[in-house]
Parts: sequence; structure tokens; C-alpha cells
Amino acid sequence: MNELNVVVDAAKAAFERAGTPADLENAKAQFLGKTGRVTELMKGLAALPVDEKKSRGAAINQAKQAIEDALNARRQALAEIELQAQLQAEALDVTLPGRQRGAGGLHPVSLTLERIEAIFGSMGFAVAQGPEIETDWFNFTALNTPEDHPARSMHDTFYVEGGSAAAPNLLRTHTSPMQIRYAVQHVKKHQAAIAAGSMPEIRVIAPGRTYRVDSDATHSPMFHQCEGLWVGENVSFKDLKYVFTDFCRTFFESDDLVLRFRPSFFPFTEPSAEIDIQFQSGPLAGRWLEVAGSGQVHPNVVRNMGLDPEKYIGFAFGMGPDRLTMLRYGVNDLRLFFDGDIRFLSQFQ
Ligand code: PHE
Repeated sequence: MNELNVVVDAAKAAFERAGTPADLENAKAQFLGKTGRVTELMKGLAALPVDEKKSRGAAINQAKQAIEDALNARRQALAEIELQAQLQAEALDVTLPGRQRGAGGLHPVSLTLERIEAIFGSMGFAVAQGPEIETDWFNFTALNTPEDHPARSMHDTFYVEGGSAAAPNLLRTHTSPMQIRYAVQHVKKHQAAIAAGSMPEIRVIAPGRTYRVDSDATHSPMFHQCEGLWVGENVSFKDLKYVFTDFCRTFFESDDLVLRFRPSFFPFTEPSAEIDIQFQSGPLAGRWLEVAGSGQVHPNVVRNMGLDPEKYIGFAFGMGPDRLTMLRYGVNDLRLFFDGDIRFLSQFQ
């Protein structure tokens, strides 16, 4: 029976060499397939005499059984190897620290803008937004600043495509164009009431980005402003003083604060004043700090809003939210706000 043992050993070796289920099925065909070696042995039985047939048949069957056992064992082993490989590939190290998505937060200047909107909102002011690319008309001319006006030189800015050669479009140098844009809309909306002699008051703030050719520790080419406008039949400088004082005390959470309206000049207000504040205690105590420009809306501007300056009067102010943010948090370099350094910005959360 030596010959049969050789076949069984050859089969076992072939199965062992098979590294994949497909290899194994090929190896199986060599021994148990239609033309396989065991099948050939079976065919050889026919030629044997009857008495030898029986013992030879039994021996071949035994060999066949041994080969099938080896085949099944190898099948299981390969399945096990495959499973282990898969488990390893999909392994999850539960001891690794989790991947976290850092919690985002609002920029300190955005926090200030939200605060400004909330405070003025509580005083009945609407919030309006307008384009950062402006026309010469809204940024200057409608605000009583004609083309040859010297005040324009303080508002050097970035000119962009559009408009005319004499009056190209520009990045707005202040939020004051929103005075005109908002008022014109308001007038259109309340035409009937105005004709009947009773316009609902214009009371709005307009926060946003503004641009000038300016860059140092306290000036950035892009900065923020927040415009305020209150126009009605009987709105006076006294109201401006009241509203702005109330705003500053609420914003800085301090009654220990005085305001000064220092005479100034803006083409679109008359009279005009810079608003300075002074803390009476704390690290900034005793210094006058400029926070806004303001004044009574100039009759020419009221006219450009589509209103009769003999009937309607009011005030406007433009403040610097960047400045307010610096004062509130004690930051002394404006550029820090716009450098995008997360170590600085995350301190405000
Ligand atoms: N627009 C002015 C500036 O940017 C500020 C201002 C606004 C002054 C409204 C008066 C009234 O300097």
C-alpha cells in the first residue's frame, strides 16, 4: 500500500501549499477531480481479479477518506486565517483618545456687534445691512460730500470696477451710506403716511465692514463701523445724548462713565460732534477715549433721503466696534483681531 500513502502525502502537501481557498480547490481537483489521481486509481480497479478488487477498493477508499479529511482541515484553517486577517484590518484600538471637533466660537468683534444690536434693539432700533462695494453717490455725494470736497481726502479708499470714470465704485469708507439707503427705502415704504403728514420714525443701526487706506496699531485697512440714525419730526441732539450715554453705560456695564460731545466737522451733519467717553474708575480711568462721530443730520442729506428738511430732523452717529472691543477687553493692538491667531481669539469664548 506504499503507493497509496505516497498519493495521500502528496495531497496533504499540495493542500498545505494552497494559500487561498481558490488554490485549495485547484489542488483538490488534482486528486479528487474527474481526472484526479484517486479517480484514476478507482478506474484501475476494474482490471483486477475479484478477490483483489475488494481489499484494493477498501484501501483506496481509506486513502480517499484521508485526503478528504486533510482537505476539510485545510479549508477550515484557511477560513480561520482569512477571519484573523479581516479582524486585524478592522481592529479598533479602544484605548486611543477620541478625535474631537473643537468647539468654535464667535470673533470678539462679532460678540461686540451682537451686543450693540441687542442694546439698540432694546431701544427700538432696527438693524440694517448694506453693500461693502458702494457707489460714489451713496458713499460721498448723497452725504453732502461733492466731488471736490476736501473731506474726501480723509477717506482714501480702494476703487473697484463699475461706476463711471469720474466716479468709480469703491469699498465704502464708512457705514454712513446706509443712512441714505435705509431712509430711501423707508420713505418708499411709507409714502402714503408721509403724504398724510405722519411718517413712522426712522430708527436704525447699520453695522458692517468698512475700508480705508490706513494701517497701523490702531488702524486696519478693513475695520468695522456701526451707523446709527434716528429721524422724525422732533428728534433732537438731546435724544442723541440720552441714547448714546445709555448705550455706553449698558455696553461697558458701568454707570461710572461720563461722555463728552466735542465739536467737530462732518459734511453730512451740522452741528457735528466727536463722542468721547471717560471711565471714572478701572485701568482706563481719567483718559478721554474717542468712540464715535455724530451730529444732527444735515438738511441736504435729509433732502437726499427724500424728506423735507423743514419737517424732518434727526441725528446720526458712526461708532467703531473694533475700538469698543479693544476698550472692553483691554486689547491694545487692533491688528490682533485680524491676524487669525487662534490662541488670541479663543480667549474671548
Ligand atoms: N461716517 C463718519 C466717519 O466715518 C462718522 C459719522 C457718522 C459722523 C454719522 C457723523 C454721523 O468718520
